[in-house]
Amino acid sequence: MPRGPSLTAEAVCFFRAIETARPEADRVLDDPYAERFLPKSWRPWVRSPVARMVQMGFNGRLALGPGALQGFVALRHRWMDDALVSFLAGGGEQVVVLGAGYDSRALRFAAALDGRPFYEVDFPATQRKKQALIAERVPEAKSAAIYLPIDFERESLAEGLAKAHTFEPGRKTFFVWEGVAMYLHKEAIAQTLDTVRTLGATGSEIVCDMWSAPPGASFEARLRRAGAALLGTIGEPLKFSLQPDEAPAFFASHGFETAEVLDSEALAERYRLTRRKIFPDNCVVRAVV
Ligand SMILES: C[S@@+](CC[C@H](N)C(=O)[O-])C[C@H]1O[C@@H](n2cnc3c(N)ncnc32)[C@H](O)[C@@H]1O
Repeated sequence: MPRGPSLTAEAVCFFRAIETARPEADRVLDDPYAERFLPKSWRPWVRSPVARMVQMGFNGRLALGPGALQGFVALRHRWMDDALVSFLAGGGEQVVVLGAGYDSRALRFAAALDGRPFYEVDFPATQRKKQALIAERVPEAKSAAIYLPIDFERESLAEGLAKAHTFEPGRKTFFVWEGVAMYLHKEAIAQTLDTVRTLGATGSEIVCDMWSAPPGASFEARLRRAGAALLGTIGEPLKFSLQPDEAPAFFASHGFETAEVLDSEALAERYRLTRRKIFPDNCVVRAVV
């Protein structure tokens, strides 16, 4: 559990800023706020020759390098953006982002939201930092977000949402759980999914991504698991893994029907990013109540 604001939230925001800085024809995501949320010392790196080299040079060869991870982060965000837009177009009534970090959807999709409530739930320290950044760097923007500080390991999502007196259970709700589940214990995951199922009306959806720890004892599998374990050194160890083929049964055990599961390769094909190497050890899931 992070003690201060989440570093991984800043890292994925950095990856979105890098994607946004790519030429328009060659990017999957346009998040103009990502760069503005970054620590000042990180911002020159977004367009630096080193960042380009990491992306362009290593991408073609190294499926486990930073460029490949950056590609996955950009793809999952775009895929979730698209799912959100179709949910809203289909009559969705409210949105809840779990572990929101520097997610800028409340700003980017303000028009599509058209006044529908947008709740951001996050670890209190991360959320405080984000609110200060918005006030300082995007004062002109009107964020639709309603902020709810909560530590998923200590409080239930139901308790957290109850803090927002406007949140209405039983409505058609879109839950975003991006880059979070892998940092939680199995019990916290089960509790979150059970709460989502209980709070959302039939037809509510959750989109999330899962870390799929490479199985086996091969040198490469061990190397990839060791790489993932490095996140423990910044206080955000990976705790939960789910393979793509396990997803339907896992979500069914919590009362969801799995509408889509895409591994990294399928995600890259969806957005025609097949020329870039995409980090292989994650999948995305869209599950319906
Ligand atoms: C990798 S970041 C992802 C942020 C955001 N969803 C995104 O994709 O940009 C993980 C997020 O989970 C939050 N988080 C981690 N552990 C948490 C906990 N125990 N309770 C609440 N939030 C937590 C962190 O504060 C951080 O914002």
